[in-house]
Amino acid sequence: MKLRTIDNIEVKGKVVLLRCDLNVPVTEQGEIADSSRIERILPTISQLANRGAKIALLSHYGRPNGKYNEEFSLGNLSDGIAEILNAEEITVVQDCIGKVAKKVLKDLPSGGIALLENVRFHPGEEKNDPKFSKLLSDVADLYVNDAFSVSHRKHSSIEGITKLLPSYAGRAFQFEIDMLQKVLSNSNPPVMAIIGGSKVSTKLKLMENLVEKMHTIAIGGGMANTFLLANNINIGASFCEKSMQNDAKKIIAKAKKFGCNILLPLDAVVANKLEVNAENEIVDIERVKNNKMILDIGPKTIDLFCNAIVNSKTVLWNGPLGVFEVPPYDEGTSNCALTVAMLSRSGAITSVAGGGDTISALNNADAAGGFTYVSVAGGAFLEWIEGKTLPGVNVLLDK
Ligand code: 3PG
Repeated sequence: MKLRTIDNIEVKGKVVLLRCDLNVPVTEQGEIADSSRIERILPTISQLANRGAKIALLSHYGRPNGKYNEEFSLGNLSDGIAEILNAEEITVVQDCIGKVAKKVLKDLPSGGIALLENVRFHPGEEKNDPKFSKLLSDVADLYVNDAFSVSHRKHSSIEGITKLLPSYAGRAFQFEIDMLQKVLSNSNPPVMAIIGGSKVSTKLKLMENLVEKMHTIAIGGGMANTFLLANNINIGASFCEKSMQNDAKKIIAKAKKFGCNILLPLDAVVANKLEVNAENEIVDIERVKNNKMILDIGPKTIDLFCNAIVNSKTVLWNGPLGVFEVPPYDEGTSNCALTVAMLSRSGAITSVAGGGDTISALNNADAAGGFTYVSVAGGAFLEWIEGKTLPGVNVLLDK
């Protein structure tokens, strides 16, 4: 797979529409809680700025349903974004289309940065409306996508616009694809996937695809309960998706056929209720009482998963292994994550993590920095490893 990249493109004095993902978590006080997505676009910005481009940051923020909504204005984040980008000045533009936006962008100095208002304030964006794509393209000379995390959306600012402007993949976009390919296609065997999170239903396709490629899959989190139930193990009052039992059985059968070793919890941390530091106990998985909930993997399972990690050369991680937000049910995730981080740092394994609340779980364990690569994508990461063609990637391929 070869992307059209920003290598050697001529941008001096030109307005570059840089699609980024500024859909970042914010605190109750409105401050940026995790700056990873913004930090990732720094290499593209500095390379374009050094070559004299005028940079227009284009992004969505939240899901405002095609209407202006002050709560989702990107202007609210402009100071935080400027600080993270180390930019002396960022010109905030009230709309991402129209004459005013076009003039402000044209008048930027070479290397200057502007922040356009939330593209999802326009109903045409999510409809991939050609008229809206045209209005977007009118404000710039070139288009660069550095938002792999939105590339599963067939929206104007991701797909439609590439039909109207010379279009390229930015450095963060390139890097995401390189790393995901490294783990999935060119990986050093044995390859292990650690899959957690609550629902099998949201990860069915992912699991079906992974059993064909992985040597081992360790399953934790709420979704492990559905697999345990499918294996006739009593999971007491634990969360599970009863209707997905047959799908879990099919995944287990497919894994056998492809020689993929599925690891399920051997023991668990259980409690009557989900509360911080509430009374809990560790039990073997066959001994979960009817009134107990499984809230984390136990020490035997941690050993099982960590041994498998040590015996792998490549590790892919998606989803927490317990209710990590409520201590002490973060221990299983933290122990395994720190093992992956330590082995990655020492060069023994290559590790890639991503999707949904995976980053928060790894940050909670203080392990994210040790992984070879942590994707900032949620849905796009999952769709990519499910084997889907992502519209935003497809249009940037050098065919
Ligand atoms: C994300 O947070 O995964 C991306 O910004 C995409 O957002 P969306 O799910 O609202 O399209």
